[in-house]
Amino acid sequence: GAAVSADISKLEPGQLIRVEWRGKPVWIVKRPQAMLDALANHEDKLRDPESAVAQQPAYAQNRYRSKKPEIFVAVGICTHLGCSPTYLPSDFSAQVEGVTSGFFCPCHGSKFDMAGRVFQSVPAPSNLMVPPYMYIDDNTILIG
Ligand code: FES
Repeated sequence: GAAVSADISKLEPGQLIRVEWRGKPVWIVKRPQAMLDALANHEDKLRDPESAVAQQPAYAQNRYRSKKPEIFVAVGICTHLGCSPTYLPSDFSAQVEGVTSGFFCPCHGSKFDMAGRVFQSVPAPSNLMVPPYMYIDDNTILIG
């Protein structure tokens, strides 16, 4: 499959854009500092906080699961049975108390944080997949 490029020059803090790669939705989210800081606050509620399961490139094996902390790139497909989770930038705390932002899968209730890390006690077995990608320049990401 061909690689696809994404222009992130107009991405606003908190905004999510979608691009299609190999027939899959890929999300690109610009995470403001508060979102990044919050990732440290709920790691005891995650199934695989260190992303020990081999499902992402080596450069994504960090708390942010990304090359640049502020830009999150992930395949927007639930690791349970393949639905597309809903981005809840400010009202996720109804899903996990004390966590402001995250992704909620409406099919069977799986929950992921702003690094795509899966919470405990949901059907999805693993964190959202991070696709291979690189920065062509500061405003352009090549996925694939
Ligand atoms: Fe997402 Fe089942 S497909 S919870």
